[in-house]
Amino acid sequence: MIRKAVFPAAGFGTRFLPATKASPKEMLPLVDKPLIQHGVDEAKASGIKDMIIVTGRGKNAIEDHFDVSFELEATLRKKGNDALLSVVREVTDDADFFYVRQNLPLGLGHAVLRAMDLVGREPFAVILSDDVIDAPVPVLRQMIDAYGKHGAGAVLAIQRVPREAVSRYGIIQGRRVARGVYEVTDMVEKPAPGKAPSDLAIIGRYILPPSIFRTLQATKPGAGGEIQLTDAIRSLIGRERVIGLVFDGKRYDAGTKLGFQMANIAFSLKDPEIGQGLRAFLKKEKLT
Ligand code: G1P
Repeated sequence: MIRKAVFPAAGFGTRFLPATKASPKEMLPLVDKPLIQHGVDEAKASGIKDMIIVTGRGKNAIEDHFDVSFELEATLRKKGNDALLSVVREVTDDADFFYVRQNLPLGLGHAVLRAMDLVGREPFAVILSDDVIDAPVPVLRQMIDAYGKHGAGAVLAIQRVPREAVSRYGIIQGRRVARGVYEVTDMVEKPAPGKAPSDLAIIGRYILPPSIFRTLQATKPGAGGEIQLTDAIRSLIGRERVIGLVFDGKRYDAGTKLGFQMANIAFSLKDPEIGQGLRAFLKKEKLT
């Protein structure tokens, strides 16, 4: 039902400078996989095949990553290293990759609008790979299920956040219609703590109808002077049923240094290869 996912990936990654001076932040590794691959793998595991990546200058490493590396595969095959060969193959298996450039930093809404021609006239997903989610069932899968079950036109992943953190997110106002499901009646991008309609924040996973593109074309710059996806979705309310889903999973804000390190520690501790060694190290050095 949902076949395409859009990955905005044109940002400068200023929070990670100087690491991101010449390398895309989407390629920073979480254990041994680049951040964006975690998002792509989640999309694949949710039944999505077409990955549309919105890139910009200096992002070539992303295209190279999601391409077959003939020399690397030939070398690994010659060495009989089947384990690594399949790790490398899995990066590109079961998906097609499409690219479009966002040549001006005009905001998340503008980035999604750049994917209009590649998406066409069908509902699609948006994944912000900064939001890493460790979930028993891939979050996008949970959302696709809710999309079908509640006859929604749009589904937003939502999570409660501390009141003092609301100004970092899009915040919804909603009516609870089922356990963990809210019918969205209003939403606001990055409100001041006193002005937020709730503490339910939008996390970087969306299912959107193709009509969002028309709305985006008419959306004026909002918070931070950028064309905001939140503002465009807000104007869908009334015409489309917009629901918020409190997903099951632990989310890390890997777009900040602290969140990125937390995600790396949590994922490393769970990793079959290095988890035990890391735990022993933290204990021995009294780092916990
Ligand atoms: C974006 C969205 C915001 C959402 C957030 C989730 O903000 O505009 O509505 O809550 O992602 O991570 P950004 O993090 O790009 O400032």
